[in-house]
Amino acid sequence: MRILVTGAAGFMGSHLADALVAKGHEVHSVDDLSGGFMRNVNPACKFKQLDLRDREATNKYVSEIKPELIYHLAADATEGRSQFTPVQCTERNYMAYLNTLVPAIRSGALKKVVLTSSMSVYGAQTPPFSEDLDRKPEDIYGLAKTAMERSTEILSEVHNFDYTIIRPHNVYGPRQNLSDPYRNVMSIFINCLMNNKNFYVYGDGEQTRAFSYIDDFTPYITKAGFDDKVNGEIFNIGPVEEVTINHLGEIVLEKYFGTKDWDKKYTPKHLPPRPKEVKEAYCTVDKARKMLGYNTTVHLEDGIEKMIAWARSMGAQKPVYLDDFELHSDKIPLTWKDKLI
Ligand SMILES: NC(=O)c1ccc[n+]([C@@H]2O[C@H](COP(=O)([O-])OP(=O)(O)OC[C@H]3O[C@@H](n4cnc5c(N)ncnc54)[C@H](O)[C@@H]3O)[C@@H](O)[C@H]2O)c1
Repeated sequence: MRILVTGAAGFMGSHLADALVAKGHEVHSVDDLSGGFMRNVNPACKFKQLDLRDREATNKYVSEIKPELIYHLAADATEGRSQFTPVQCTERNYMAYLNTLVPAIRSGALKKVVLTSSMSVYGAQTPPFSEDLDRKPEDIYGLAKTAMERSTEILSEVHNFDYTIIRPHNVYGPRQNLSDPYRNVMSIFINCLMNNKNFYVYGDGEQTRAFSYIDDFTPYITKAGFDDKVNGEIFNIGPVEEVTINHLGEIVLEKYFGTKDWDKKYTPKHLPPRPKEVKEAYCTVDKARKMLGYNTTVHLEDGIEKMIAWARSMGAQKPVYLDDFELHSDKIPLTWKDKLI
């Protein structure tokens, strides 16, 4: 199998590439390093630095590689920011995906696509979300993922290739981008502490999320590429145990300082809720359990300990902010506008 992994210098893509290399596959990989790092790229992968928004260059590359299996993970996954950078979000998600998929289909070699989507496609429906719910995205990022999912279904039917769609929960673990102030709440919390700052919580902090340690994600996305029984299926991947953001903050503080009695200067500060952020987001994983053998093995508290140990080994990172937003509004969170993180 000639495999192409997009977003292979990123967090989840690099762990996936490691798993594929370990299984002895020929892995081609691309990333434009906008959110990923060369240090994450498995040296046994053939790697090309490529911006998938560049249609001509992507066409040339994919036409040469002729991938039989594509795992698409490249993304601008800054969901909360996507209302203020809608063009970048659409180009880095939907357009980058089509730019990759179209030449792969045209090459005649493509057998299967594993698309990494998101729970954002469920929007503000009542959780737990199951895969058979309609897609009702509430934000620009969810809209792009919805378009990517639906395009996959339509194009696979017309052009005869298989697909599996994976909708992960909040995944965390080593190699997550600690310098991104726009996403990955746990990394932001930990990086603030490493920079000797308190962290900020949007709204009352009682919004709930479920978190997956990376080791409880990679085996299942890997398997999805090779199991014919999951062709044409959509899977939620993530634990069912949800946690409030307030409680997540408490665990991070306790694990970081090794005591519940941490210096009160680190007490989290609250800010107004972010626009379009849903209050509750967790889902059922019965289907993944049944068809992919999904199982959670890393408890949240243990995972946070591992994450903190890794983050400390990387050291405090300086947050990297955008030069500007595409749209300005008083709804842009202060953490971003005033660069508080
Ligand atoms: N991490 C999560 O909790 C989570 C949850 C749901 C869905 N997802 C999805 O999983 C996938 C991987 O997420 P991640 O957390 O590893 O993110 P990540 O940012 O670490 O990885 C994405 C990679 O894509 C690359 N990229 C962005 N635009 C590109 C372009 N135009 N051309 C080439 N490369 C480009 C970035 O440089 C980055 O390395 C994404 O599709 C994301 O939407 C992630």
